[in-house]
This record gives sequence, structure tokens and C-alpha cells, in this order.
Amino acid sequence: MFIGIDIGTSGIKALLVDEKQNIIGSWTEPLTVRRLHPSWSEQDPDQWLKAIYHTLDMLQDQYPQEVSLVEAIGLSGQQHGAVFLDEKGQVLRPCILWNDTRADKECAIFENRFPDGPKILGSITMPSFTAPKVLWVAKNEPEIFSKTRHVLLPKAWVRYALTGIMAEDMSDASGTAWLDVKKRSWSEAALKASGINMSYMPDLCEGTDRAGYLKADLASRWKMKKRPIFAGSAGDNAAGAIGLGAINKGDSFVSLGTSGVLWMTTDSYCPNPETAIHTFCHALPNRWHQMGVMLSAAASFKWWADLCHEKEETLLAELPKTIKEPSPVLFAPYLAGERTPYNDGRVRGGFVGLTQDATRAQMTQAVLEGVAYSFRDAFEGFLKTGQAPLTADVIGGGSKSTLWVSIIASVLNMPLNKIKHGEQGGAFGAARLARLALTGEKIEEVCTSPERINCIKPDKELKQAYAENYKRYRLLYPALKAFRN
Ligand code: XUL
Repeated sequence: MFIGIDIGTSGIKALLVDEKQNIIGSWTEPLTVRRLHPSWSEQDPDQWLKAIYHTLDMLQDQYPQEVSLVEAIGLSGQQHGAVFLDEKGQVLRPCILWNDTRADKECAIFENRFPDGPKILGSITMPSFTAPKVLWVAKNEPEIFSKTRHVLLPKAWVRYALTGIMAEDMSDASGTAWLDVKKRSWSEAALKASGINMSYMPDLCEGTDRAGYLKADLASRWKMKKRPIFAGSAGDNAAGAIGLGAINKGDSFVSLGTSGVLWMTTDSYCPNPETAIHTFCHALPNRWHQMGVMLSAAASFKWWADLCHEKEETLLAELPKTIKEPSPVLFAPYLAGERTPYNDGRVRGGFVGLTQDATRAQMTQAVLEGVAYSFRDAFEGFLKTGQAPLTADVIGGGSKSTLWVSIIASVLNMPLNKIKHGEQGGAFGAARLARLALTGEKIEEVCTSPERINCIKPDKELKQAYAENYKRYRLLYPALKAFRN
């Protein structure tokens, strides 16, 4: 029996998975994000831990027999966040999350100090990444920085809290801007450019390696017969890929979670930093991936639903069953700035084209389409690299909406597969990594493709209309740049 835990931004999700890869049970605990300033986004690591305890308590309560048999645990972590620890391993300040863009200026400082960075780190430096966050803290919170002895990503901190060891897998480590992504080792030059050194870093491992045992008191809290081992695990997108069986060159998926990701697996390191597509390690040895990342995908829809005081489902029900034409309203989903293709932490979102007759339904459709156009931006970036996905699976909370997936399929002009349990995101892949770490089985035998329940093809007429509208959408960014804060 295996457990996969996804440390997401909007919630902690744990899945209990058996030897036949059946999902026996799951529990999700919501999380909140604190935004003290428009570009800030923080969470207390303790919030993750409390939610994990509660999640596993609930699984234990419902499936006592199965939980007692758990032998391995895998983690899937929201990427890039910076957890600052002192010499005793105590948390010094809230984690600065992946969608926090305060460290805008620090990216330039980092790149000036380390001009070879993009070639070695697989991407231009973005405020989301961990390295510029450390420079921000050094400048703005020197008392915290002077006490800092370790900087961990969210998943590495959770592992530390649950096992007592500090270790990080290659896929997540890639998002720090401290990893030599080709060599799969920490880059001393990158660490130096952030004013820290190797001693601040956890040990590196592959996602399929073993990295720690659950602490004895926690194993007895959940009445587990043996102390489960921990897999090296993965960043949430790599974990999603493992869950989908996206392990071979060209395998692609769209993740419609809080963030939006267009992913493609590769079998070599072939960076293309100028496109703002990231080239990072996969969670499997000798494999890499490329991805375009949008900061506010399902986050944009959630923002809009919250503003309307409605559930997302209610807003979706106001739309036609099938979309016949694009909304007359356009929406730019830059609520937290944007990564791919602009790497701009300061641009902000907007609605354009409102009239006296504009309806809430038109605005909802505009939000869904705006996110789809931003996926198209990432797709165009892939085209520039010379290799772009031809078809893709869809995962993440937003993938529950067939309507939204069909909009994205038409905007991308690409067939998209809805898959069984697609909304489980990285937790299922994390459970697979747990299994691989325990059994050492062949990756191909475990990481098979899940059941595809529906292939959503682009609509012939709509895709033309969207292609035209995409040209209008492209005009938004240059205009919105003038309103940067
Ligand atoms: C990936 C990224 C997001 C977060 C979301 O680079 O920033 O997908 O991992 O959890």
C-alpha cells in the first residue's frame, strides 16, 4: 500500500493507492494564501504540516486496515517556494511561494552575477524561482538572512518535518535556479550569485530513490506496521507526468491547476531560454522536460468566481453547453504577473471590450478563453524550440470542466484527452514514485498511461475564430505593460 501526498497551493491532497494502482481513498484539506502586498504570496509551512496530519488522520480513520499496511510515501510539491531555516532547523519566516513576484529586480542582479546562468540552469531567471527570493530576503530582511542556514523547497521542508532528513529530487531542485540541470548537481556559481553556498542545500536524489523514513512517532500515530520509506519524489508537474505515464520523449500534458502548465518530456538537455520555456530535470534519471508556465490558470477562474460570490460550477452552468463563438470580451490572466512567455512579475490582468450589454456569462467565458490563449502563448514558445506537443492529456482541478478543456483544445488546435482521476494532479504520480522507490520495479511497467475517458478534438469553425481572436489577445500584453506597478 502506498500514499501520495500533493503539497498544492490551494490544498493538501493525500491518496491511498494499492498494489494494483487502484485509488482506495483520498482526502483533501484546503490551504489559504496570504497576500500582504499585490505581488506577494506566502504560506506558513506549519499550515502544510497541520493539513498533512489531518489528511492522514482522516485516511487512517476511514481505511485503518489499508493505512496500517502502507510501506512507502511519495510527495508532490508546489515548486520554487523558499523556506528559510536557522541552524536548529526552525522556520524563520513564511514560505515565499512560486507565484510571488516580489523578487523582480533581484533576477537582474542574479543574472549579472552569473551571466552563464540560463545555459546551465535551463531557464532565464524568474521572480518565481528560489534564488532571487533569497536575494530579496538578504536585502530586505537582513536579520532573517543572517540567521539562515538552510533554504528548502516546500516539499523538501515537508520531508524534513516528516522524516528528519534534508533531501531534494532533481525535478524540484531544477526550479531553484541553483541546479546545473544537465549535470544534475548543485551549481556552486549559482549559489554564490545568491550569497549562499552548498552547505545551505539539501542532498540531491532522483525521484525514484529512497530518501528517508517516516518518523517513528508518526508511524505509530497512523498505526502503520512498518515505518514507511519516502521516495525522492517530485515537483508537482513532474509528479503529474509520472501519474500520466509522460515518461518518454514527446509525451505531453496540460495542467489546469492554480498555475497552468504545458509540459513535454525530453530525453536530453536542450535548453531554449529565450522562449521563457523552462528546461528542467524529470523526476526520473536521465530524462528532462520542457514546460511553459502560466501563473494564474484555475487561479483566474477561482478569483472570478470568488468575486461573483459564486461557485465555479454555477458560473459554468450559465454558459452555453457548446461554445459557438469567442466571447466579445477579452481577459488577460496576469493577476500575478506572467512567466511564459513574458517573464514579467509586474504586469497585471484586465478585461477588455466591455459594453453596456456585457454579461457575467460573457466575462466568465472571457476568463476561460484568456487562460486558453495563454496556453497558446506557451505552445508558440514550444514551436520556436522546434519541438511542440501534438496532443496532450489534461490534469488538474480545471480539467473537470469539459467545456473549458474543449475551449483549450480549439485554441491550441490540438486534441486533448480527459483522463480518469485527472483532477488528482501530482498525488497519484507521487504514489507511483513511492512504489518505485520501494520495489525498484521497471519504470515503464509502473508508469503506464491512465484510462483516457474522452478525447476532445478542436472544433473546426471555432478554431478559426479563436485563431483570429488570439491575434487580438496578443495586443493586450504590450498595452498592459504601460500599467505595470
Ligand atoms: C511550475 C510552477 C507551478 C507550481 C504550482 O514551475 O511554478 O506549476 O509548481 O504548484
